[in-house]
Amino acid sequence: MTEPKPVSKLSKPQAERELAQLAQAIREADAAYYQSDAPSLTDADYDALRRRLLEIEAAFPELKQADSPSETVGAAPSSGFGKVEHLKPMLSLDNMFSDEEVGEFLTRVRRFLNLKTDDELGVTAEPKIDGLSCSLLYEDGVLVRAATRGDGSVGEDVTRNVRTLDDVPEKLKGSDSSKKGGWPARIEVRGEVYMSHADFAELNAREAAAGRKTFANPRNAAAGSLRQLDPEITRNRPLRFFAYTWGDVSEPFAETQTGAVAAFKKWGLPVNPAMQRAASAEELLAVYHGIEERRAGLGYDIDGVVYKIDRLDWQERLGFVSRSPRWAMAHKFPAEQAMTQLLGIDIQVGRTGKLAPVARLQPVTVGGVVVSNATLHNEDQIARLGVWIKDWVVVQRAGDVIPQIVRVVEEKRPKDAFPFKYPDHCPVCGSSAVRGARGDDTDVDRRCTGGLTCPAQAVERLKHFVSRRAFDIEGLGAKQIELFHSEGVMSAPQDIFNLADRIAKAGKPPLEEWEGFGETSAANLFAAIEKARVQTFARFLNALGVRHVGETSALLIAKHFGSFDHLREAMNRAGSERPNDAFWRFEAIPRIASKTRDEL
Ligand code: IVH
Repeated sequence: MTEPKPVSKLSKPQAERELAQLAQAIREADAAYYQSDAPSLTDADYDALRRRLLEIEAAFPELKQADSPSETVGAAPSSGFGKVEHLKPMLSLDNMFSDEEVGEFLTRVRRFLNLKTDDELGVTAEPKIDGLSCSLLYEDGVLVRAATRGDGSVGEDVTRNVRTLDDVPEKLKGSDSSKKGGWPARIEVRGEVYMSHADFAELNAREAAAGRKTFANPRNAAAGSLRQLDPEITRNRPLRFFAYTWGDVSEPFAETQTGAVAAFKKWGLPVNPAMQRAASAEELLAVYHGIEERRAGLGYDIDGVVYKIDRLDWQERLGFVSRSPRWAMAHKFPAEQAMTQLLGIDIQVGRTGKLAPVARLQPVTVGGVVVSNATLHNEDQIARLGVWIKDWVVVQRAGDVIPQIVRVVEEKRPKDAFPFKYPDHCPVCGSSAVRGARGDDTDVDRRCTGGLTCPAQAVERLKHFVSRRAFDIEGLGAKQIELFHSEGVMSAPQDIFNLADRIAKAGKPPLEEWEGFGETSAANLFAAIEKARVQTFARFLNALGVRHVGETSALLIAKHFGSFDHLREAMNRAGSERPNDAFWRFEAIPRIASKTRDEL
């Protein structure tokens, strides 16, 4: 990766261009994280993007856009749920990554509050739960509404789902006399919905046994479980809750953060027992490292420690800077690392023909999880790392994302180590694999030129086409696609609809030996395919799997053009070349309707 140019050296047009690119990248990562529950970047990479954006905006304030990601948190709520406007915005926390920054935080706060050296600055420290934040509105002690964070101002109404959580009381305990520790007439209690490790393992085992997709990690499982349109599904998912802050409140109910959390506990809300109060950087660091040591045994995922100024009048004075409070910060844990040996490099061929090198590793435990594969991104990354087969390497797991190789331990290079020769042909179909395959010479990836004639590409495209966020065809999972493809029943998406026609005609699947498919499952599959024939334009676009057109861009294009016909007209007018064969072959899909603008 090339080092970014120092901000002071950027010309205004360069800064403008980079800001637009950064905003786009942050929005896409937000959408992947908040709407698809599938993080696309490591926390560190995401934070680096945000930091760079803030730096450029600070140097060129006139270029800052009203809708800049620096002004928003998360992503707009996804469809399907009612919208809830938070009475007070749900903000985010600024991160720190080193011990030194703890002292700097305290110095900044002292300076802002104009404290004398011997004034005590009390700060709470508690685990940063890796779940999803939720705002619970209690009126007269009764839960009236629950909402996800959404974009910070407007979230999704998940009241019916949250009511199924044992941890969330319908009614707060105690009385309404907030002076005596009772609850205020109105309060937005905020905290984190999460899933424990044990419950996550059990849920995944259940999902696998039922032939459904498993969740990548507890956070995704929690998000996927909370954001179910049918609350009965949420009821059967073991979600938990920790209360740690509040938004709007009708009257003061505590003087300190510690007091507020104690009040939550008295009202019957679960609070984190690991919270402690400290009064210096040394004490805070002792709590931080203590929590870090106990991390693996807590039974749920945490990704750092949150510090909050204890006195609420000081919190009030400190206030907020754009999207985060000045009175709180998150101290993130470093990515977990371990050393192991590279056994080999496998090449996988993806949906867009991209050759993806995957490191096969001697299995090693990294932060409690056994890692046997790591991503190597592309051939440049292999060259940059200078990694040879049989080398000892440092692997890192950060948050949710796939483990990565950080560096080679050169002094341990074995005598029989040898460099990897990157293939220039597709290992699946034998077509040549080239860089800049789509006329884009900045493309760092080598791609198979076989298109849909390459079995790997065809199967991956089909899988993408039927996936949850595209055509969402139940009963047509990875296993069935692979079977149909190998039997020659499906090689392109329109074959899915041809299959339905064949089932309708014959009254049964067209294969003699169709493993696992009786008449009922054939009928169910038929119904699912029929149901999928009508799609929103945005889903349709996403399903095509055109490079650079993911869920977010598909939605933008759909909003702009309104229908496939308008898009096609515009492309014809522009005389643009066909972006890829799949795109045009879709015209052959019978009876696909792109809905109108309002139905996006
Ligand atoms: S306090 C003004 N405390 O981390 C925001 N947040 O990165 C006050 N989180 O949006 C938030 N554990 O979803 C707070 N103990 C904790 C937390 C916590 C997890 C989440 C929360 C927040 C995000 C910020």
